[in-house]
Amino acid sequence: MNPSPIHVEMTVNDRPVAAWMPAHTTLLTALREHFSATDVKYGCGEGVCGTCTVLVDDEPVNACLVFAVQVAARDVRTMAGLSSGDDLHPLQRCFLAHGGAQCGFCTPGMMVTALAHAESGGGSGRDEIREALSGNICRCTGYVKIVDAVEDWMTMSDDVGGAA
Ligand code: FES
Ligand code: FES
Repeated sequence: MNPSPIHVEMTVNDRPVAAWMPAHTTLLTALREHFSATDVKYGCGEGVCGTCTVLVDDEPVNACLVFAVQVAARDVRTMAGLSSGDDLHPLQRCFLAHGGAQCGFCTPGMMVTALAHAESGGGSGRDEIREALSGNICRCTGYVKIVDAVEDWMTMSDDVGGAA
């Protein structure tokens, strides 16, 4: 007998969402299949690749490793929440300028991880950026272009008085 579905509510990119789902539904599945947040990608499903990273109350979380119900009533941010319509976030523009996204599969997780690093006061040095992104695997770029993009954005943000 299947257990009864449960009702889960949360906020995704400032949008209140709610749905009935099986209790064992991961946050990743809830975001993609119930809340239309398909910018969040499924990589390994085992907490290894960082592809599914989202911010829960501003903390990076592997969405494949937590149940949606554990995130009930909390704020989730994904890469799609960075932009405002066609108006890209400065971090997104830096990824474009530096070719930091090739196939783009790792990019949503990379961007929100970089955002959390900057918002938590992390440094803009290349070693600090590499360390911050060490849990996010990219199969395409060799990482140099990604670090270039994040460094450029963080340096720009320092110049203008904070990570925009
Ligand atoms: Fe979640 Fe790989 S899909 S860490
Ligand atoms: Fe393809 Fe990173 S750009 S996996």
